[in-house]
Amino acid sequence: MTVQKRTTKAPPRKRKSTAPKAKRTTKPPAKKRTTKPPAKKRTSTAPKAKRTTKAPAKKRKSVAPKPKAKPKTTARKSKPPVRAKSVEAPPAKKAAKAKSALHTRICDMFGIEYPIIQTGMGWVSGARLTSATSQAGGLGILAAATMTFRELEETIAKVKDRTDKPFGVNMRADQSDVMKRVDLLIREKIKVASFAQAPGERVIKTLKDAGVLTMPTIGARRHAEKVQAWGVDAVIAQGQEGGGHTGQIPTSILIPDVSAAVDIPVVGAGGFRDGRGLVAALALGGEGIAMGTRFLLTQDSQVPDHVKQIYVDTKANGTVVTKAVDGHPQRVIRTLLIEQLEKANMLTRFPRAALNALSLMKVTGTSLPELLEEGIAMKQSQELTWAQLAMAANAPMLTKASMVDGKVEAGILPTGQITGVIDEIPTVAELLERIMAEARDTLERLGA
Ligand SMILES: Cc1cc2nc3c(=O)[nH]c(=O)nc-3n(C[C@H](O)[C@H](O)[C@H](O)COP(=O)(O)O)c2cc1C
Repeated sequence: MTVQKRTTKAPPRKRKSTAPKAKRTTKPPAKKRTTKPPAKKRTSTAPKAKRTTKAPAKKRKSVAPKPKAKPKTTARKSKPPVRAKSVEAPPAKKAAKAKSALHTRICDMFGIEYPIIQTGMGWVSGARLTSATSQAGGLGILAAATMTFRELEETIAKVKDRTDKPFGVNMRADQSDVMKRVDLLIREKIKVASFAQAPGERVIKTLKDAGVLTMPTIGARRHAEKVQAWGVDAVIAQGQEGGGHTGQIPTSILIPDVSAAVDIPVVGAGGFRDGRGLVAALALGGEGIAMGTRFLLTQDSQVPDHVKQIYVDTKANGTVVTKAVDGHPQRVIRTLLIEQLEKANMLTRFPRAALNALSLMKVTGTSLPELLEEGIAMKQSQELTWAQLAMAANAPMLTKASMVDGKVEAGILPTGQITGVIDEIPTVAELLERIMAEARDTLERLGA
């Protein structure tokens, strides 16, 4: 393992200025590149096993953690001699500079050491993953949208047993008991509430007045402007390559566009896995990265090993954005079920969806009136057809069967495209240390 373990915590770093960013009216000028950057060498050259649709039959790579490869960013052997001698700052100064570049507003805002967020992922981010992330210096976020109220209460208690560091809770603002959950977050003094969609002014105001920070995920500039006006504290800007429900704009276009439009911190998401990505997100105007798939593929996530293996075996082009799951564009692994759903029409989808919606009641302990109440709220807020609604009600059940029970034939495996270039399963602590070391190396390589 090349990752160096920190034995002592670095003292909290001071930002030079904590005043809010002045609102930019123009986009930062694009830098012209005259030469192409040299192509990076992959440490693993073995192509991923080709998959079509049925994952379990594939040839498997080992999910056991491989001996850690040296971070790719350190692969460069020699630095340009002239710059190195004439303009480089002494090593101690450079290290301090890199540290401060990696200490952004979200570190102070959320009380975290690293500008790295583990996002809320339904059925994936439970107490173990979230507490491991927060304990390791990032911000862990519990996925509450797939938990009953009671489960959420219990899971918050479990996280608190494991760490005294700040963590967040991800919610769906259209859940029928959302205000009850808001009260719980306030009572439990949760640091931050994140939302898959814009949560609405009332929810934001209630949380804000009680001191809970809010951070919705957005996929377009206009959404960021809207939620900023409502008073949110930060946004996660998720590009189309991201996992789960996702937008149409690539991360590399979205982050600079959004960060030029709003004053609040913008956290980049969609397609991140390492320290080079973190530096890239900062260069684009972001103040950190939020990752889903990379955290799903750690030893601390509760996803069964054979399911993780399917992700590891999936190529970057083995994912698809489909509306067939619940009526909203969602990036998932292209499984047999997804291919069938894509071909099926609404009439053939509906009966199966309705049946599964009823089974979901048993799994979650939801009563029929509650299910109907939630369905009607969902239908109104998301403008779904009844067939889409039944499928939407059905989707969490199918996703749970795949992600938690490991019945991959159920076939809904949300993922980011980044899964195509992830081939090992580290612990969360190893991952975060590695990302930060790589980010420092990258800044040094760039002479920053
Ligand atoms: C398995 C899975 C489940 C997800 N569930 C949720 C969710 O419940 N709420 C949410 O806001 N986002 C959800 N997402 C999106 C992630 O929180 C995150 O924004 C996204 O994964 C970032 O892209 P990346 O996978 O490339 O890192 C999910 C993503 C995945 C892969």
